[in-house]
Amino acid sequence: MTTLLSARGLRASYGAAQVLFDVSLDVGAGEVVTLLGRNGMGRSTTVKCVFGLLRPGGGEIHVGGQRCDGWTSHRIARLGLGLVPEGRQIFPNLTVQENLTATARRASSPSSQAEPWGLKRIYELFPRLEERRSNLGNQLSGGEQQMLAIGRALMTNPRVLVLDEATEGLSPLVRGEIWKALANLRRDGLAMVVIDKNIRALLELADRHYVLEKGRVVWSGSSRDLRASPETVGRYLGV
Ligand SMILES: Nc1ncnc2c1ncn2[C@@H]1O[C@H](COP(=O)(O)OP(=O)(O)OP(=O)(O)O)[C@@H](O)[C@H]1O
Ligand SMILES: [Mg+2]
Repeated sequence: MTTLLSARGLRASYGAAQVLFDVSLDVGAGEVVTLLGRNGMGRSTTVKCVFGLLRPGGGEIHVGGQRCDGWTSHRIARLGLGLVPEGRQIFPNLTVQENLTATARRASSPSSQAEPWGLKRIYELFPRLEERRSNLGNQLSGGEQQMLAIGRALMTNPRVLVLDEATEGLSPLVRGEIWKALANLRRDGLAMVVIDKNIRALLELADRHYVLEKGRVVWSGSSRDLRASPETVGRYLGV
């Protein structure tokens, strides 16, 4: 399997406070992996390092075989990483359609995926966004904003889509819609890194999992391994 994203021995700090000590992970073509852990264990910080939003203090990051730690976030994204950030961060004063097209990009390299992402395909995935296409970002419900954040990231035609808490604060009904959309993306062969609190949904969706504890990967394995390891779930995830 081709490795699309790999991190080796990532370290990171905020000022004097080191929060990542040793994070390594791999994402292969078509694979869905998760970053698990309780609050504050370093999941979003790992994402920030991968995307160049925080400069790692050590370790290596490769995207599509290209070493890119220390690069600007813009340059890293162009290697084929799409981010659905914590807190959605859609543009409040742009319409839905403008949000989708503002940062759209053609695929960085020919991919095995059938069809490139464009408005038509986004609206097929999330019909609600088409209904709301002329509304401003700040007129949307939380669920619609989340769909928009996912759509906007897909419009960059990423090889790996990274979602940081994409179902946070949504009603069970809307969460279900998001999980269904992610399952569709998986079926289309899109590689993803998913951060979420809903372990049950992640066990269904994902191939493999990395558990973070105080800035270190303390466990990794398949969904089958994790199902068979209730002590891991209890000890590190507190559920
Ligand atoms: N901008 C920041 N400045 C200083 N410390 C930070 C900052 N962001 C996060 N931290 C600290 O870094 C550690 C890791 O935070 P991180 O955001 O990576 O956690 P997380 O696993 O994403 O959890 P959650 O999203 O539930 O908070 C925590 O101790 C957090 O308080
Ligand atoms: Mg976080």
